[in-house]
Amino acid sequence: MVYVTRRATFSASHRLYNPKFSEAKNFEIFDKCANPNGHGHNYVLEITVVGMPRQDTGYVIDLTKLKQVMKTEILDKVDHKHLNHDVDFMQGVIPTAENIAKAIWKILEPKITEGKLISVRLQETENNSVEYRGEE
Ligand code: NI
Repeated sequence: MVYVTRRATFSASHRLYNPKFSEAKNFEIFDKCANPNGHGHNYVLEITVVGMPRQDTGYVIDLTKLKQVMKTEILDKVDHKHLNHDVDFMQGVIPTAENIAKAIWKILEPKITEGKLISVRLQETENNSVEYRGEE
């Protein structure tokens, strides 16, 4: 098996806040990430697909096609947007890196027909990143 990864970046804002919690509890849990008007990140998204290279092309997946599907399905919808307000697939969930990665998996998994999606890795800051591999 060969693991093939495509990287992309986007900028988005979010606010970590659970409306079921009090204001005080939100700040206790999310601290400054709960500030009312949100804040931004420069995210780095890495999508990894696994498979055997095809006999005829030598590719597991054509990276130009993966780049295109990441653009139309994800980046065009999140780049320079507010994840709490502007992004349909993030409605009703707290837009942590964990939940963004899970939502991206759900969208991309059925769209990847060459090889198999194995990992969605999302870096939110230089020091913080998450990885989702499709398991509950
Ligand atoms: Ni944040």
